[in-house]
Amino acid sequence: MSTNKSLLKEAPLLELKNLETAFDIDGTYYNAVDHVSFKVKPRQIVGVVGESGCGKSVMSLSIMQLLPKGIGKIKSGEIIFDGLNLEKMSESQINKIRGKDISMIFQEPMTSLNPVFSIGYQLQEVLFNHMKISKQEARQKSIALLKSVGISRPEKLVDEYPHQLSGGMRQRVMIAMAIACQPRLLIADEPTTALDVTVQAQILELLKDIQEVNDMSIILITHDLGVVAEMCDEVIVMYAGKIVERTDVDTLFYNPKHPYTSLLLGAIPKMDEKEERLTSIQGIVPSLTNMPKTGCRFANRCPKARPECQKITPLLKEVEQGHEVACLLYETSKPIEGVVG
Ligand SMILES: Nc1ncnc2c1ncn2[C@@H]1O[C@H](COP(=O)(O)OP(=O)(O)O)[C@@H](O)[C@H]1O
Ligand SMILES: [Mg+2]
Repeated sequence: MSTNKSLLKEAPLLELKNLETAFDIDGTYYNAVDHVSFKVKPRQIVGVVGESGCGKSVMSLSIMQLLPKGIGKIKSGEIIFDGLNLEKMSESQINKIRGKDISMIFQEPMTSLNPVFSIGYQLQEVLFNHMKISKQEARQKSIALLKSVGISRPEKLVDEYPHQLSGGMRQRVMIAMAIACQPRLLIADEPTTALDVTVQAQILELLKDIQEVNDMSIILITHDLGVVAEMCDEVIVMYAGKIVERTDVDTLFYNPKHPYTSLLLGAIPKMDEKEERLTSIQGIVPSLTNMPKTGCRFANRCPKARPECQKITPLLKEVEQGHEVACLLYETSKPIEGVVG
């Protein structure tokens, strides 16, 4: 855990303000990201956690302006990167930033690497997009980049094709492509989920090294809280398109407040004390067309829900300095009977 107190006063590199991203399903737009606001400071690693279907990838694609055209759109809100409103940019303006100042690595590298082009060709394409360099220089730079992500025979690998590489090697190539132009922000969407544990640890270590050397900020999306503990400064917990808790990594682990966070941490015992602690949360994340119209979206799965939780929508509020929670249990200034932090 690496909470850095000196980060506290710095201006954010990225700020999301009330972001609403929606998908057209049978002629109606449904919010997959619902009024999400947070900041990422320079050199900060912000973890985003939450079960599958909670809007983590859609939020990332919104920042990258890579939502599927004609289906997904930013309905309202702002995405401010280094003072610039990304959501207002034209395609040519965003193209200058994407892949250069902000880049993204995806969960499944096979879908983002083109099978018909060599690794070297694909790396050089990224470089040519943003730098004026010769073919010779691009090849040399590609080899150096592959070396920097721990690939041991980069001169040979530049001429190989994605299918010739293992999953871990492909993910290293993806990281090389993502950092080719030294971005200030890297969005890593479940970058190690498809990998086995040993390779996962190596890739995370690599990301952390690169982050330190390049002074980069990272938004690290993962469903693995162990990864969060290892890597992140701050954590955002998302549920059904909303942020339900945001705080520094130590506080999240030692003083989680939202019942959803506690359940993700496996910290709430079942009603019957003799039973084992929960390993998964009962029920499922509602689909976009099935979101509860009123109240807290987690209420029907929440072991601490009270009748009003179905009716009143909780807002994300700062309950302690630097600790935001969206839960009715914390909306009153009076202590609630029977509820412990
Ligand atoms: N192209 C799409 N069309 C319609 N709904 C989508 C699309 N992409 C994602 N969604 C929906 O948006 C919600 C959030 O998805 P996603 O961001 O992928 O979740 P996560 O990354 O947290 O697992 C889900 O309900 C998902 O089904
Ligand atoms: Mg996802």
